[in-house]
Amino acid sequence: MKRYALSNLLAMIASASLASSLVARTEGAISSRERISINDEWRFMKYASAEQADRLIYDVRPEVTDGEDGKAADAKPTAAVEVEAKEPVLKDWILPTANDFIKNPSDRHQRPEGNPGSDFPFVQEDFDDSAWERVTLPHDWAIEGPFMEGWDAPVGGGMGRLPSPGVAWYRRALDIPEADQARSIFLDIDGAMSYAMVWCNGHLVGGWPYGYASWRVDLSPYLNFGGANQIAIRVDNPPFSSRWYPGGGLYRNVWLTKTPKVHVAQWGTYVTTPEVSEKAATVSLEVSVDNDGDSAASVVVSTDIFRADENGKAKGRKIASLNALKGELEAGASATFADSVVIKNPKLWGPYPNQEPHLHVAVTKVRAADGSVDTYETTFGIRDLRFDGEKGLFVNGERIYLQGANQHHDLGALGAAFNVRAAERQLELLREMGCNAIRIAHNPPAVELLELTDRMGFLVIDEIFDCWARKKTPLDFHLIFPDWHEPDLRAFIRRDRNYPSVIMWSIGNEVGEQYTEEAGAALAQRLHDMAKEEDPTRPTAASFNFAKPHMPITAVMDTVSLNYQGEGIRNAPAYAHLKGINTPPLYPKFHDAYPNKMIISSENAAAVSSRGEYLFPVADGISAPVADGAGGDPVSAQVSSYELYTAPFGSSADKVLGSLERHPYVGGGFIWSGWDYLGEPTPYYSARSSYFGVIDLAGFKKDRFYLYQAHWRPDYPMAHILPHWSWEGREGEVTPVHVFTSGDEAELFLNGKSLGRKVKGEFEYRLRWDEVAYEPGKLEVVAYKEGKQWARAAVETTGAASALELKADREQIKADGKDLSFVTVRILDDAGRFVRNAKTSLTFELEGPGEIVATDNGDPTSLVSFKSLEREAFNGLCLVIVKGKPGEAGDLTLRVSGNGVASATVSIVTTK
Ligand code: GAL
Repeated sequence: MKRYALSNLLAMIASASLASSLVARTEGAISSRERISINDEWRFMKYASAEQADRLIYDVRPEVTDGEDGKAADAKPTAAVEVEAKEPVLKDWILPTANDFIKNPSDRHQRPEGNPGSDFPFVQEDFDDSAWERVTLPHDWAIEGPFMEGWDAPVGGGMGRLPSPGVAWYRRALDIPEADQARSIFLDIDGAMSYAMVWCNGHLVGGWPYGYASWRVDLSPYLNFGGANQIAIRVDNPPFSSRWYPGGGLYRNVWLTKTPKVHVAQWGTYVTTPEVSEKAATVSLEVSVDNDGDSAASVVVSTDIFRADENGKAKGRKIASLNALKGELEAGASATFADSVVIKNPKLWGPYPNQEPHLHVAVTKVRAADGSVDTYETTFGIRDLRFDGEKGLFVNGERIYLQGANQHHDLGALGAAFNVRAAERQLELLREMGCNAIRIAHNPPAVELLELTDRMGFLVIDEIFDCWARKKTPLDFHLIFPDWHEPDLRAFIRRDRNYPSVIMWSIGNEVGEQYTEEAGAALAQRLHDMAKEEDPTRPTAASFNFAKPHMPITAVMDTVSLNYQGEGIRNAPAYAHLKGINTPPLYPKFHDAYPNKMIISSENAAAVSSRGEYLFPVADGISAPVADGAGGDPVSAQVSSYELYTAPFGSSADKVLGSLERHPYVGGGFIWSGWDYLGEPTPYYSARSSYFGVIDLAGFKKDRFYLYQAHWRPDYPMAHILPHWSWEGREGEVTPVHVFTSGDEAELFLNGKSLGRKVKGEFEYRLRWDEVAYEPGKLEVVAYKEGKQWARAAVETTGAASALELKADREQIKADGKDLSFVTVRILDDAGRFVRNAKTSLTFELEGPGEIVATDNGDPTSLVSFKSLEREAFNGLCLVIVKGKPGEAGDLTLRVSGNGVASATVSIVTTK
């Protein structure tokens, strides 16, 4: 590939004027770029069983042997039997899709002769798909259920008990005007779960197996210009392929991108800010240009920089321009153009709360001599990152302690189907807790999530793989690792490297290569080197839950990312009886071995609880492994919300925060996990969703939320009491009361009588009154900070459920079929008090131009479909998610009725 930069192109000075005359001539639609959403009008069909599916397979897969049923898969099994190919596999036609992301030309793939599948009915234009389901993307075929119950279920708790495995087809017609012949036409898929293969008018075009990747195929050679076209996409989700719920299908946006033949390559811009101060910043830009035409092209590449508005779009007058650069591209060739500019008094991008996330837009124009102009926008931020072994992270010179949370990709009741508002709500609630960073566990996110983190000023560890060549589940990514790790890694970084919120590339989570000494380290090195080739400005990470400082793999990455090992694994007294690895707190050893590398706690806690469930007796230490009868109830499959219980390898929030504070050189940490997610319901695999979240699956705060908030937002006056105080039958029994407050001491009162004033000690994160004998009435806490009253909270014994309170998070939403209102239903007694343990049965109805998209209550054990219009409240709360009909503004009324309670309504207005 050729490279052009101003330094060796002084002769190009005249190019700017050449450029403007070209634009004047022909900036018409046909010679420019368009990005068209094609989320609507798809038809969908999923085979009833894997046996019934066609055999147009990507590749043969090992057969999962007996004993590797759903439950075993949950327990991370290992054995599978290799199967020999009995039929032709389509892999060789799919692999060339990766070529732009394979560095060494001799490693790139040649498309074989032939056109497999061309005679298959579903890929024919005249196939009658009218009996197939009509769907709008993003679409997750599995989220509606039904949930599969029992230990023999084909999909166990680990993958969320939902029917994500299977083979399905999507079909859509495309009208392509004749004039488009002058352009390149791409199908851009932001995510298809998984092993997607695309046919266009009966031709196998290409595809991409990794379900979290974003990718493109070039439809141009196969289109019928000036007529009808048929796209058919086959998606194949293996069973036992994931440690959590993956979702299924075209679960992110799909676009048709039309460009001039000479155009900016896919993710072809790269902005860096090598020098940043308050006074001036250098903005450097590389633009890769492809010439898809069949003759050589002279091009001029120019870029103007603007400030961005709240939607990331250019606003106002340009604030700087890069030099116009001229070059020649042979037919089929690519070239890179690079230049930089200094911006005075730049508005910097930085994280909340002390900085603001200002964004800029680089508007690049690629003008070709034939008159075409490709206009390409790159949103970016100007910011400086520094990673320090003693002090952690600095953004624009300010030390930022990472108060982070791990986030899975699902959106609870909405499943894997990406929705901007649902993701924004997740971030808003995390922010309210004081969280400033997320780690994307453990796969590339939807790009819209990174647009949100950019806009909201969150820091992001962007992560790509949960396994490399060594598997975690029988049919996971390890099967395609040899062919796809390079294109997946390079494509991921090229896609995400302009988001200022992304501070680090995590190229693996707890990979099996931790156990393979030099061989594992060599593979780690290869991946690290690739990441640095794509983006030398950000450090790499791989999270280790086993590798120790003396092992070769830990030397490879730029940072030290520890899962659980920092605060120690099974090393507190309550864990002494457990089998399994036992690790002392390893921050000091890693710090000694790698004094210049920033250490982060990439996963910590793995604490578990069910919101609003309290079990007795209560552990007396600060952290304990959950077990039946000790924090866990095997009958209800609920886990106590005293927030002291953890997975066997985990530590409570209290222990984690203490450990982080004792090791101040650690740059911060990421809770496992911010929100609950579908699948991985440790410790009760009869359930559907996790117990790890600080926020439950429906978005309701567990008690732990307030523990973190108290510590992370020390200036925000708050106090929170647990448990609830309605314990009929427990009169006189010991019922411990714990308080989380951002104050430093507090006094607890039961029915007006003081139970004593307690002071938070060093490395303590809760105040506890462990000997309280239950008596009905009112518990009140008064918190103090530096001797002054700071915050109060109370809980009361409540009467029977008698009323409902409905609250929409937004009473006005857009009537676009995407915007959502999240309505919380709270159960009240006749005095209007919140009945924190109510399990009232409720029904939901919506009037007006809209729809109830899903309901939930945050109960990890509930196997009621998320589509259901009937559901019990779980400990006083229920969630209803509502959207408007696209294009039909109007008034929506949600009515909720229930057993023994007066029904209630809430109004939501939808606007065009
Ligand atoms: C970690 C793993 C996470 C999740 C967590 C809780 O070991 O990285 O993906 O599985 O444990 O079980």
